[in-house]
Amino acid sequence: MITQETIAEIFAVARVEEVVGEFVRLKKSGRNFKALSPFSDEKTPSFVVSPAKQIWKDFSSGKGGNAVTFLMEHEHYSYPEALRYLAEKYGVEIREERQTPERVQRASERESLYIVTDFAKGYFQKVLTENPKGRAVGLAYCKARGFSAAAIGGFELGYCLDERSAFTVAALERGYRLEFLAQTGLTITRESGDAHLDRFRGRLIFPIHSFSGRTLGFGGRILKSDGELPKYINSPQSVIYNKSETLYGIFQSKREIVKRDNCYLVEGYTDVISLHQSGVKNAVASLGTSLTVAQIRLIKRLTQNLTILFDGDSAGVKAALRGLDLVLEQGMNVRVLLFPAGRDPDAFARSCSTDALREFLQRESEDFIRFKARLKAAEAQGDPLKKAAVVGDVVRSIAKVDDFIKRELYIRESAAIFQVSEQALFSQLNRYLQRDGREAAGRPKRKAFEVLQSEPREMRPHEAELERALLRAMLLYGTEEIAIKIPGESESYETTLAEEAIQLLVEDAITLQHPVLRKIFEEIRRHWESRDELLSGAHFAVHPDPEVAAMAADLMLEEQPLHDWKRMGVYVARPGTRLSRELLDTIFRYKRQFLERQLKTLAQGLKAQGESERTAAIREIMNTKRLMVVLDKFLTRVV
Ligand code: CTP
Ligand code: MN
Repeated sequence: MITQETIAEIFAVARVEEVVGEFVRLKKSGRNFKALSPFSDEKTPSFVVSPAKQIWKDFSSGKGGNAVTFLMEHEHYSYPEALRYLAEKYGVEIREERQTPERVQRASERESLYIVTDFAKGYFQKVLTENPKGRAVGLAYCKARGFSAAAIGGFELGYCLDERSAFTVAALERGYRLEFLAQTGLTITRESGDAHLDRFRGRLIFPIHSFSGRTLGFGGRILKSDGELPKYINSPQSVIYNKSETLYGIFQSKREIVKRDNCYLVEGYTDVISLHQSGVKNAVASLGTSLTVAQIRLIKRLTQNLTILFDGDSAGVKAALRGLDLVLEQGMNVRVLLFPAGRDPDAFARSCSTDALREFLQRESEDFIRFKARLKAAEAQGDPLKKAAVVGDVVRSIAKVDDFIKRELYIRESAAIFQVSEQALFSQLNRYLQRDGREAAGRPKRKAFEVLQSEPREMRPHEAELERALLRAMLLYGTEEIAIKIPGESESYETTLAEEAIQLLVEDAITLQHPVLRKIFEEIRRHWESRDELLSGAHFAVHPDPEVAAMAADLMLEEQPLHDWKRMGVYVARPGTRLSRELLDTIFRYKRQFLERQLKTLAQGLKAQGESERTAAIREIMNTKRLMVVLDKFLTRVV
């Protein structure tokens, strides 16, 4: 963790107009700067940077924030990545919390590995493009495969000479230490004497970049046909490289992934390069492993939509399908495309135009669950026992989907594909949901009758606004003292706005619907419960979770006064009342809306239930009604 002092120092010296100016051509306009929005295609500039306020606002997309959030939005840096970028730009020395001597040592060791890796990348690049042997073998191969100069440059391809230790010797000559060459796996050291070996000798080099563009390691493809050697060798695991946390091409693809709101996942290095070269620049490859949660998270920073392209001869489709439940659990929408036998994205991309390629990928890819259902149904044809098993397998995948409307649609569709009743699938689904609910601690339990509910669980606009207002109030005025008087009791009591909000929501087990707002609220609550301290907006504006930091900045920058609620038909406090009174009303309004919605859901649940569920639903309805009566009393007579 970067220390608060360092963060403060960075914020103090960073100039938003200088940071933004590196990525966007700014024009002076009065006291501000204006530019075409970097987040949308527009003809008239609606992107404004205010040097006085040190903020930017993009009116075309509604985004806005400070220098740090700009880097997070535009470069998709994480919060610490953005801070490090600024620290480097402005020469601020980064201090980290809990700096034990070992930590300092490890940090500098990491740094050394990065430096050696970066040197190697440049060296291999130079060999590929300038060294006669490199050109004759490596560059000739690239040309023969049809890699363009732009692709070679963009992916920083290189070549390692087919000699025992040409690279290692060059590195040692320049003063790089053998210790670090060995740790990054670039050099294979031998105990006896000085017979060091270049790991990648005779191979075309594919540097593997981090999200923010640092070189972490390499893949090396063999160029001569030699049946004995593996086609690829890769950098070994090291302090800086972990293949299961990295995606090949993520650095080069991130902007396009956001723009297209979709990410293609392919199998190999060359597939990524070919797709890019053919104009499909939102493509990454998992590095010969099945997708991990860490990799999914990288993609999720950019989009919710993932399309997986399988090679035609891919042995691993079935195994991969099993792994995809993990992706569903992360709340992503997944599509798959199985290339015809013998074809892969690389070959296909080279055979057609960008438009045709894009069109093909869109048209031929299929929703993952539908794909799985069809595949399994075909597999189990005419075998009822097998059918029962594969239906269960598909329903288990459906249970991983978080959105109950989507679940319902999938159930309907699968029932048609397998020719079984929807009712049977629904009850199976409910069993899985309940089981998952018990297994996944900390996750709200999914109610069994949710699937039968016909009204979408979408928040009404009022409620969404109320959630925002509630959190905005907690961030800005959470520590403000307020007095509460309960009807029928003579004493009023003093508390703070945030505490009251926590109490009121927690005692009725109300959870916020918006995931990021919920995160913020939960953090405030946990912190308050465990340390008796109220976190304020400043804490969240510099929060390591980028979603949280962006939301906090957004809430606090929002210029909409609370009074605007009149427009939305929500209760407005009488003029002259105190601010906190107004805020308290927000909470009550919110709570009441929540209960109303809950009541509707519960009523729906009554319709088609078994006896015991019905009794439970009735009990909950009674409870909810009782709460609403109490709340109504509050609303009419808060202090
Ligand atoms: N791979 C690996 N080691 C191997 C073979 C494959 O690490 N011995 C990984 C590489 O990341 C490779 C991916 O699996 O990119 C897919 O393998 P393959 O389809 O064989 O390679 P391509 O990248 O398609 O290479 P080419 O088109 O040159 O055959
Ligand atoms: Mn391949």
